[in-house]
Amino acid sequence: MSLVYVIAHGLRPMTEADLPRILQIELASYEHPWSIGNFTDSLHVGYSMWVREAEGEIMGYYVMMAAAGEAHLLNLTIAPYWRRHGLGRDLLDHCVARARDHQADSLFLEVRTSNTAAIALYHSSGFIDLAVRRAYYPTIDGREDALIMKKDLAC
Ligand SMILES: CC(C)(COP(=O)(O)OP(=O)(O)OC[C@H]1O[C@@H](n2cnc3c(N)ncnc32)[C@H](O)[C@@H]1OP(=O)(O)O)[C@@H](O)C(=O)NCCC(=O)NCCS
Repeated sequence: MSLVYVIAHGLRPMTEADLPRILQIELASYEHPWSIGNFTDSLHVGYSMWVREAEGEIMGYYVMMAAAGEAHLLNLTIAPYWRRHGLGRDLLDHCVARARDHQADSLFLEVRTSNTAAIALYHSSGFIDLAVRRAYYPTIDGREDALIMKKDLAC
């Protein structure tokens, strides 16, 4: 399957039928993954949830909530095999466009300060550092800071 084919195809809303495969990607991606319940709750409250797939294979997905002029990116994950091919940036661009569709002025997110790959993606996509929440995330042996980032959607 060529990358051109992948980029050109297959962004669609997430459904409950996707969740078993998405859980596998979560488990492969995070020490503290989202549960099936986290995804079903998000689907039921109507968050913006999109999947990138080609030929039935899920490569990545994101979850975004938007309300009262603000949007929050809650989850952005690319399956390990498909990383470093531009799919993360592509999904993030799609998320920004959907946030604008919801009339959001700003898109916020939180990321572990050790997650240099994600932070590089966000900085190069116009996010700025807003604040640090000390000891916000659990780790295997303690706690880790969260970096809060923001992208201004007005410009
Ligand atoms: C973070 C993540 C979504 C990036 O997705 P991706 O498809 O691999 O990223 P892209 O190929 O679109 O890369 C976009 C930019 O991100 C940065 N980046 C991505 N992976 C990187 C890495 N391993 N090291 C350093 N920078 C990296 C680079 O700036 C890159 O731009 P470049 O290719 O011009 O150098 C992916 O690594 C992932 O799913 N990680 C696990 C889950 C996670 O941490 N999600 C974010 C939670 S806040």
